[in-house]
Amino acid sequence: MTTSSSERGVSLGMPELPAPAYPDDVRARLETDAREVIARYPDSRSALLPLLHLVQSEEGHVTRTGMRFCADMLGLTTAEVTAVATFYTMYRRKPSGDYQVGVCTNTLCAVMGGDAIFEELQEHLGVGNGETTDDGKVTLEHIECNAACDFAPVVMVNWEFFDNQTPASAKRLVDDLRADGRSRPRAGRRCAPSRRPPGSWPASPTSGTGSSKRAAVRDPLPWSA
Ligand code: FES
Repeated sequence: MTTSSSERGVSLGMPELPAPAYPDDVRARLETDAREVIARYPDSRSALLPLLHLVQSEEGHVTRTGMRFCADMLGLTTAEVTAVATFYTMYRRKPSGDYQVGVCTNTLCAVMGGDAIFEELQEHLGVGNGETTDDGKVTLEHIECNAACDFAPVVMVNWEFFDNQTPASAKRLVDDLRADGRSRPRAGRRCAPSRRPPGSWPASPTSGTGSSKRAAVRDPLPWSA
């Protein structure tokens, strides 16, 4: 005897329609930025990761429209782009706050206080794992080890390191981010919100050296001063 898909609780659903394209003005602007990024690589498909960051900075997360744009620009299929975008946790697949606050709760950070930090931040912010504060500023989440164990416990804001945190310092950090975002990570200038104003994509994130190169990626233009 066989059972239907609905009896097994499986919804086959309808095939998804193609993602809508960006409005013409947005696409034109993003194309300019994307061409500059692509030109830095001998093989255009190598530009996929920065292009995903580009479309993420446009909407705050990687949408189907953004993935379609990347595929169009690089001559890839949307399936190829989706496979990459869903593999790396740095690409967000749903709307989130300006600041993605990740608390490392892997073994070393956990025993050094990461678990306590995460619990206190949940209570302090009134959100659970993966949830965003009402003001849209902070999304809190567990993160896995980011190879900064010697600075445990580690908190990351938009993937910038804040080392040797305590529950008290982590609460000050998120309060500061929600107020005006002037907190500074271990290296370089203060964290920028994940969603940037149009046209503020780094003109040349690979120029410069060392911390100046990282700072260029993090806070490329004085739009937020
Ligand atoms: S366990 Fe937290 S950075 Fe490695």
